[in-house]
Amino acid sequence: MARTHEFITGPDSGSAPFTKEWRVRRRFDRRLRLLGIPEDLTGWSVLDVGAWHGYFSFECERRGADRVLAVDRFAWDKFGMDEFLAAHERYQSRVEYQHLDAHELDVDQIGKFDLVLVLGVFYHLRNPVAALERMARLTRRLLICETHVLLPFIHERYPLVPFFPGDERTDEQTYDLCGIPTMTALTEMLRFSGFNEVDIRYRPSFRYWKKLMALVTMRPQSGRGIVHARP
Ligand SMILES: C[S@@+](CC[C@H](N)C(=O)[O-])C[C@H]1O[C@@H](n2cnc3c(N)ncnc32)[C@H](O)[C@@H]1O
Repeated sequence: MARTHEFITGPDSGSAPFTKEWRVRRRFDRRLRLLGIPEDLTGWSVLDVGAWHGYFSFECERRGADRVLAVDRFAWDKFGMDEFLAAHERYQSRVEYQHLDAHELDVDQIGKFDLVLVLGVFYHLRNPVAALERMARLTRRLLICETHVLLPFIHERYPLVPFFPGDERTDEQTYDLCGIPTMTALTEMLRFSGFNEVDIRYRPSFRYWKKLMALVTMRPQSGRGIVHARP
C-alpha cells in the first residue's frame, strides 16, 4: 500500500471528506496497478518528472529504490510544495528534489536513471518531442509514460496532437484540450525521440462509447494511455 494518500486528497471539501479520501485512494491504487512499476526497485535509480505531491516518488522509495529524484516546475512554482514537503518530512524521506522543467533535463547535470516516470505530464508539454529526447538520453532501463490520449471519432490511428501553447498560456486557449496525443502519436514520438522498444500497456476504456461521443459533440474525447519505453 502506498504511503501518501493523505497528502493528495487536498483540503477537506467539508461535506464528505471520507468519501473524497476513499475516491482518491481508489484512483491512485488503480493507477499503481495499471502502471506496471517494478515491485522491487532495489538497485534502481528513479527520476519522477512532474512529481507534484510526490506520491509516486515516495512509493518508489518504499519499493527500495537506491536513489529517487523528484522534479517539477509549474505546480511547485505556482501552488507551492507544501504537500510534497510535508510527506517528505513525515516519512523522513531521502527523496531528492529539484525545481526543473522537463524541457531542461540534462543528463550531464543530473545523470542517468534506471526508471523514468512521466505520469500525467505529457499533455502539459509545450515541446513534447524535445522533452522526450532529453528523457531518452537519461533513461537507462525503462520509461513509463501515462497520459490522456486523444480519441477522435475517426483518424484515431493517425499521429495527431492538438496544438498546445503551454500551461503558462492556458487562459488564452480557445479549446479545452491540451497537447493530448493519439496512441499512435505517443508511440511514434517515443520512437522518434530515441526509444527502441515501445510497448502499449493500457488503452483508454469505453473507447467506442467515447468515439460516439466525439461524433455527437463534434469534439474529440480522451482516455488513459500507458506506455513502457526502453532505450
Ligand atoms: C497532472 S499533474 C501529475 C502529477 C503526478 N505525476 C501524478 O501523476 O499524480 C502534472 C504535473 O506535471 C508538472 N509539469 C507540467 N509541465 C511540466 C514541465 N514542463 N516540466 C516539469 N513538470 C511539469 C505540473 O507542475 C504538475 O505537477
